[in-house]
Amino acid sequence: MLQVPLRENHQASTKAVILVGGPSRGTRFRPLSLDVPKPLFEVAGHPIIHHCLKAVAKVDDVREVILVGYYDESVFRDFIKDASKEFPQLRILYLREYTALGTAGGLYHFRDAILKGKPERLLVLNADVCCSFPLGEMMRLFDEKDAEAVILGTRVSNETATNFGCIVSDSHTKRVLHYVEKPESHISNLINCGVYLFATECIFPAIRSAIKRRTTRPRLLSYPSSDNLESSFIATGDDEDAAKSEVLRLEQDILSDLADSNRFFVHETKDFWRQIKTAGSAVPANALYLQKAFQAESTELTPPSATIVPPVYIHPTATVDPTAKLGPNVSIGPRVVVGAGARIKDSIVLEDAEIRHDACVMHSIIGWSSRVGAWARVEGTPIPVGSHSTSIVKQGIKVQSITILGKECGVGDEVRVQNCVCLPYKELKRDVSNEVIM
Ligand code: GTP
Repeated sequence: MLQVPLRENHQASTKAVILVGGPSRGTRFRPLSLDVPKPLFEVAGHPIIHHCLKAVAKVDDVREVILVGYYDESVFRDFIKDASKEFPQLRILYLREYTALGTAGGLYHFRDAILKGKPERLLVLNADVCCSFPLGEMMRLFDEKDAEAVILGTRVSNETATNFGCIVSDSHTKRVLHYVEKPESHISNLINCGVYLFATECIFPAIRSAIKRRTTRPRLLSYPSSDNLESSFIATGDDEDAAKSEVLRLEQDILSDLADSNRFFVHETKDFWRQIKTAGSAVPANALYLQKAFQAESTELTPPSATIVPPVYIHPTATVDPTAKLGPNVSIGPRVVVGAGARIKDSIVLEDAEIRHDACVMHSIIGWSSRVGAWARVEGTPIPVGSHSTSIVKQGIKVQSITILGKECGVGDEVRVQNCVCLPYKELKRDVSNEVIM
């Protein structure tokens, strides 16, 4: 067990890392990730990572946020420039892994940069989660328990729990007793939300121990073989096999060992939480963030009226006919045009799209510069409240419950599109349902 000395200074410095992944991840986010990296996809009027960053910016103690991923450096340049203006107290930087190193491998690879300035605590957020990020509560639990790690947990149904990392905890002390990533059988319905707070003195030695174990213990089936992992961490070549051997994941390789210590705790959130994995999952994430903004009386949202059923976000450059009815849970992007008598509900309409008069869009995402014709109907199927899946079974076939039009798609006048995923640049001239249109 790794012991951390008792902290006297409760204003300990904290750094934050947001794990943004790279182009080979987020494939389930297609077709939307064909045109924009998933972390920059806009839900409720802001890129997915903006929601994470906004939460981190509220933690007094944090002065530096590092985005760690393996996208090209240029990908986050504009985002960082804008975010640095919005959150001037934060130094925001992007560190690029030369290849996918895994959720723990990336942290370890950049340990010197992370440890610069000797932060005592490290917040780690998966970029692909949507939640209220109760970081303040996690910090309080961390201090109260003199923890070496705190994980954010949430309860899901017993049937879905095994799709996630499962936490067995002492409900009284909040101590994590066991952690198993995607167990084969039910062990707990308290699951890992992908948000962590670590003592820096604990997490890096824990990753180092996992690396050492790899080199001395036969490899688990799911990992590629590695003869000398420790030294391959120092190497910076782009050899594929060497790179694979460096892959280390917090979930599989680190958290279960942390549970062996008695200073790993869970903060259970009763607030909303969803993963943003499939493209369709952007729709519930959009709804949850809009609802949160509405509760907070955000001035970014469009005020309710006879034709605006809140919460609705309309970009200032969009043109919405006053007879169109929007909401609830609708985001309208820059320069979108919505015609007279259109009806839009539970949907995201992306930049430069056009929804012509009397069209109906529900439970859908309308891609950049796409056009929905007059009297057309583009719809998905509502996702049951609390469901963590965006697929449904229709006529014996598993389909996406959310209809998604990729970039520059066209739906003809009076055409009906139902539960379809449509790749970019397609013209839909006849009714379609339950199909992937390639
Ligand atoms: P599953 O949930 O297991 O299906 O895998 P996933 O790839 O969809 O998600 P995972 O739990 O592996 O990733 C959690 C977060 O970490 C996401 O925001 C990913 O983008 C990010 N991530 C995953 N792998 C890497 C990696 O190798 N490097 C970095 N920097 N981030 C990663």
